Amino acid sequence: MKRFKIGVVGAGYVGLTTAICFSELGHHVICYDKDTEKIKKLKEGKIPIYEPGLEDILKKTYQKNIFFTDKPEEIYANSEVIFICVGTPEMPDGSADLSYIEACSIELTSYLKEYKLIVEKSTVPVRTAEWIERTIKLYNPHADFDVASNPEFLKEGSGIKDFFQPDRIVLGVSSERAKKILLEIYNEKEFPYPKIITDVKTAELIKHASNSFLALKISYINMVANFCEKVGVDVDVVAEGMGLDRRIGREFLKAGIGWGGSCFPKDVKAFIKMAEENHEDFSILKEAYKINEKRIDHFIEKVKKTLWVIKGKRLAIWGLSFKPNTDDIRESPAIKIIPRLLNAGAYLKLYDPEAMENTKKIIPPNVNVNYADSIEESVKESHAILILTDWDEFKNANLPTLKKYMITPIIIDGRNIYDPKKVRELGFLYVPTGKP
Ligand code: UDX
Ligand code: UDX
Repeated sequence: MKRFKIGVVGAGYVGLTTAICFSELGHHVICYDKDTEKIKKLKEGKIPIYEPGLEDILKKTYQKNIFFTDKPEEIYANSEVIFICVGTPEMPDGSADLSYIEACSIELTSYLKEYKLIVEKSTVPVRTAEWIERTIKLYNPHADFDVASNPEFLKEGSGIKDFFQPDRIVLGVSSERAKKILLEIYNEKEFPYPKIITDVKTAELIKHASNSFLALKISYINMVANFCEKVGVDVDVVAEGMGLDRRIGREFLKAGIGWGGSCFPKDVKAFIKMAEENHEDFSILKEAYKINEKRIDHFIEKVKKTLWVIKGKRLAIWGLSFKPNTDDIRESPAIKIIPRLLNAGAYLKLYDPEAMENTKKIIPPNVNVNYADSIEESVKESHAILILTDWDEFKNANLPTLKKYMITPIIIDGRNIYDPKKVRELGFLYVPTGKP
């Protein structure tokens, strides 16, 4: 099997996972990031993010066939295929900020003396590849290259599995040459999964349409969850009953405090904006977004209803990351809930298995906020536990023991991690989401 010289631009969650997984397959990989601190850490063999399994692979491949650099000449000159994985954050108007993509396109122009394949992996608006192509030609009319799209569908926390065993691989290509290279990289032996080979803009659109649909699906069940609370029905049973219909599917029907992370919020907004620019009104997505924003109000209301007075209450906050198995707190519902509780006068003890360091940078400890070293520490002298992320550590917590440390045995569960009957039998006042 042909092995390639692969360059990965951007050493974030997506770029690092992509680079390290390609190195596991034996390709020669150079991963480049402008952030010199990040590269320094990586050069010491340390992973700057928490993504299960990445470090183990890196231990095997580091300095054998994966290298890190903050120098553009080291990546571009030495790569045949360049995967662009830089961030595409949100602009104030909701559209995607493509300045990093542009910067990267300009930077690589002078290295296109012999043919190179440039592959967008970052989530980008439809037609971004056309802009990349135009930019490169503007700076270097003689450049020999193709731009392809291979959108990532990596979920943080299960990135490695999603890389090696994807549901599908989307390849948007504009030439036979680009198609051949990508099909060699994603060959049937190593990737025996459905492949969609299409034009570049269709591939770009598949990504935005997929992420927005998933966000919509979660907002839908959250809307149903609100109704379940009103009529005394269990949303998890409703989701189970719906999900067994293969046309609907069980995944992404977990009601909770809403979707966060670096992708869904910005991708939904960018998709709405893209539609607007083309005189289309994606009102259904606007509604999904609103439902998601209201999850925070809804949860705070629930806390008020349960505790009566929030002021002066000591609350154990379980979970800071936007979902389990990551240290990522970008757009995390927990990070939106915490200031609201503090404004209401609560004292908080925060606990998360991985995300406390990141959270300390934006919510430093003070008289009202403490960070606990352990789950036990977090509940001592507390009036209630608030579950904001569905980490396994919380699911497996020894509740009878923890109850002894608490002033009042109350659990307000924003992620429905327990069986209400069992928790109530232990003597807790248990307030789940979307359940009687
Ligand atoms: C990002 C996007 O947010 C997502 O939409 C897309 O699908 C993939 O890329 P993520 O990997 O989570 O996801 O982003 P982030 O962790 O912010 O990493 C981006 C990296 O690119 C950072 O390390 C940043 O330093 C680097 N970067 C950014 C560059 O190397 N060069 C630049 O010009 C800009
Ligand atoms: C997402 C997409 O799933 C992935 O394909 C894409 O490439 C990047 O964006 P990620 O942001 O890592 O991945 O997390 P994901 O597992 O999709 O969860 C997003 C948010 O939705 C989290 O806050 C999670 O808690 C929430 N969620 C997810 C629910 O509330 N209910 C669910 O049923 C599923």
